[in-house]
Amino acid sequence: MNGTLDSGKYKSLICAALEAREKAYAPYSKFKVGAALLTSDENIITGCNVENASYPACNCAERTAIFKAITMDKNSFEAIAIIAGKENQDIKDYTSPCGVCRQVLREFVNPEKFKVIMAKSQDDYKVATLEELLPLSFGPENLA
Ligand code: THU
Repeated sequence: MNGTLDSGKYKSLICAALEAREKAYAPYSKFKVGAALLTSDENIITGCNVENASYPACNCAERTAIFKAITMDKNSFEAIAIIAGKENQDIKDYTSPCGVCRQVLREFVNPEKFKVIMAKSQDDYKVATLEELLPLSFGPENLA
């Protein structure tokens, strides 16, 4: 896949992220997050946040998706959709990935091309490149 993603692709990704959000394990924050990663070979790999009684051990939805993907031998990605909000409430805001997740994504994507879709619904979302969210980043080529 190269270049632009049409709005149909965005909608399917957001739909997958919404479904994944249902699986979120967030008994502490009650903030449920779903993510859906689009691979270059057009697969969708989802993730949810998984919290822990020892709070620093919580894992974000985005990292769950990317770690799952790597485990499945997928390591080339085009986009990620994220949708989040408090349990039993309407989705109020666009949620952007935390700094740690931005850096984890950075390891595996071209920051100028990779799209981050921050959604409130299938029809209401914002799109940014990883470069916009994590400028002047440090990546694998810096260690070459
Ligand atoms: N969280 C995510 O899963 N992704 C984000 O982009 C922001 C935060 C999770 C971590 C924690 O389980 C809860 O949301 C509250 O921070």
